Amino acid sequence: MNEYVSFAYLSDTDIIGMNRFILNLIFFAGLILSLASCRNEGIDSRVESLLSEMTLQEKIGQLNQLSVTGYNDDMAGQIRAGSVGSILNEVNPEVINAYQKAAMESRLGIPLLVSRDVIHGFHTIFPIPLGLAATFDPDLVKSGARIAAEEATANGIRWTFSPMLDISRDPRWGRIAEGSGEDPYLDAVMGVAMVEGYQGDRIDTTSMAACIKHFVAYGAAEGGRDYNSTGVTERTLRNVYLPAFEACVKAGAMTLMTSFNDNDGVPSTANGFLLKDVLRDEWGFDGMVVTDWASAAEMISHGFAQDNKDAARLSINAGVDMDMMSYAFIANLEQLVNEGKVSLKRIDDAVRNILKLKYRLGLFEHPYVDVEKASSASYTAKALESARKSAVESTVLLANSGVLPLSADKVRTVLVTGPMADAPHDQLGTWTFDGDASHTVTPLAALRAMYGDKVKFIYEPGLDYCRDFDDSGSIAKVAKAARKADVVLAFLGEEAIMSGEAHCLSDITLKGDQRKLLKAIHDTGKPVILNIMAGRPLELDFELRHSDAILYSFHPGTMGGTALAQLIFGDEIPSGKLPVTFPKSVGQVPIYYSHNNTGRPFRGTETMLYDIPQRAGQTSLGNTSYWLDAGFEPEFPFGYGLSYTDFSYSDLAVDKEEYSLSDSVKVSVSLTNTGSRDAVEVAQLYVRDLVGSVTRPVKELKGFRRVSVKAGETVEVLFTLPVSELAFYGLDMKRKVEPGDFLLWVSGDSASGTPVPFKVI
Ligand code: NOJ
Repeated sequence: MNEYVSFAYLSDTDIIGMNRFILNLIFFAGLILSLASCRNEGIDSRVESLLSEMTLQEKIGQLNQLSVTGYNDDMAGQIRAGSVGSILNEVNPEVINAYQKAAMESRLGIPLLVSRDVIHGFHTIFPIPLGLAATFDPDLVKSGARIAAEEATANGIRWTFSPMLDISRDPRWGRIAEGSGEDPYLDAVMGVAMVEGYQGDRIDTTSMAACIKHFVAYGAAEGGRDYNSTGVTERTLRNVYLPAFEACVKAGAMTLMTSFNDNDGVPSTANGFLLKDVLRDEWGFDGMVVTDWASAAEMISHGFAQDNKDAARLSINAGVDMDMMSYAFIANLEQLVNEGKVSLKRIDDAVRNILKLKYRLGLFEHPYVDVEKASSASYTAKALESARKSAVESTVLLANSGVLPLSADKVRTVLVTGPMADAPHDQLGTWTFDGDASHTVTPLAALRAMYGDKVKFIYEPGLDYCRDFDDSGSIAKVAKAARKADVVLAFLGEEAIMSGEAHCLSDITLKGDQRKLLKAIHDTGKPVILNIMAGRPLELDFELRHSDAILYSFHPGTMGGTALAQLIFGDEIPSGKLPVTFPKSVGQVPIYYSHNNTGRPFRGTETMLYDIPQRAGQTSLGNTSYWLDAGFEPEFPFGYGLSYTDFSYSDLAVDKEEYSLSDSVKVSVSLTNTGSRDAVEVAQLYVRDLVGSVTRPVKELKGFRRVSVKAGETVEVLFTLPVSELAFYGLDMKRKVEPGDFLLWVSGDSASGTPVPFKVI
């Protein structure tokens, strides 16, 4: 009998007198459930039987991950000898097949796990993850991740190192580009969407195992300098940095990567409390844990491990299963086991986690990829359309004097300028190893192709690269051309290389002579529409004063140009919202909307939030919490983004005054499109817990919804907020809801709206 089927088949004679339909329904539901549990049981027994045949060296080989590009006999030999469990970075399907063949020829025929950083698309490049978060559209993000998985798995990649769940509140940190921004809730929603997209609704040969990373607090690097130490307390870890990881574990993420940083003195790769107590025991994670690249060996530099052997001991005993590129496990584990410093049980558990993953992915049955079909899986019409839509929804309209959108029937001559107007590689953003820039549609190409029959486009780049200085009078040429145009489209920003791993900045203003270029155009008096492509929030004070509108598209990917052309000419309407606060100046960093209140809150915000009595003891100069030279507010708050129409919120109500712990708060609000275009608004639900056993954030996002509203119409937007979602880790470090008074907002960003109160009893 098929090992997956435990239900007996029901014949017609068995069901006399019973309702055949109901019985069949029960039968199939049971079949599905039993298939699922039998499949796991089947896998577990296969893992155990394989494990029982393995030598210690073969077990240790499974824990070893090596990087390779191109075929070489030495690597194939190591694989055939059973010394390598996984490779990263090879993407040629023929080479992957050749290495798989070597693995299948190893004594026990255990396939390789082939991995790659598929971060925002494999071949078809989607907006950078920070841009994807700005869509507030998890369904779209999930379908984009699915497309990435289809493209990558067709080429033999079955494991990606994504999603990056690192909360970042510091735009200096180059890797802010790779995450979903500053907010734990948005981070969790987007992370789960990516996990589901990569792995698929059911595991098959198009499933790519997700790797949630970097565990943990890596984005809190001191000074925004990559790899730097962090000092996040357990409570803040639990309330801010861990929820997205937990949500993704619950969503079935198959693997997790440790982070480079030491938090409170303990490098993450040896943090047994997090890797065992929290991840395995509290959350029940049954997947596989991999180190970051050489992060085991790097504990020597941290001054935490004596040598590579010590690093191996510390990391495996803390709960790491696979060593990426430290050679620490392969070189030392056998000796460590023989010396009794690492138990055989720990090795077996690590091997189990890896074999289970290989079985779950179906690698034993399907180790090879069909080379003939590999390339046709990429850049399909479906993929390009999804990338275009993602670029549209990830673009945030930050300012608009009314100049946008342009009308192709009215505007005659448009000057296109700036280093990002025609930068096929740079608009793809960070982590795009495999994106082929020859498929990129730049804004210049899209504008000409889509609107060139009606509008004359003059192109004068001004600067070739964002970091260039003008020493040949190019900017003067741009200004001259601007005088002949009705309007100027300036495409400025950052090259892809200015953000991402190890690419941090201490100054987040536009580089090179870009401001000079902007000023020169603005000085002509012509309307200037500024389009910024960047991997992080930038300081925009100068830009706001020298332009008439700003569209911020992060790095928008392969189809970014098409998306921007359509947005500029009103064939698409902006709906993106900022997933991260934009500071006025870098000196405000870290600045984020869900901060705790000081005892002396800035007055403007205080009255905006709710009425509290005047504090005693303040001087007439007002000793409140703000910067003398930058005020209190950021340039743009989290959640902010304009449209070509206007929205207004009214009649916000909750269904009761008091709720028990098991209740849900039913929220309703009227959303009116007061402008003249049909558009989408992202309605955002925030709460504030007024008094806690520990101080609580002034606002926390608890829900959002993309709502389509026709011009002039009002729709009722409903949210259901379970009271349990108000839980947090308080003084006793237990997650629970603390009864008391709350405020609740529904608004278009984190800084507006009038709250309604409710109580939890
Ligand atoms: C180091 C990075 O921190 C990590 O995110 C990435 O997945 C690995 N390198 C593998 O390339």
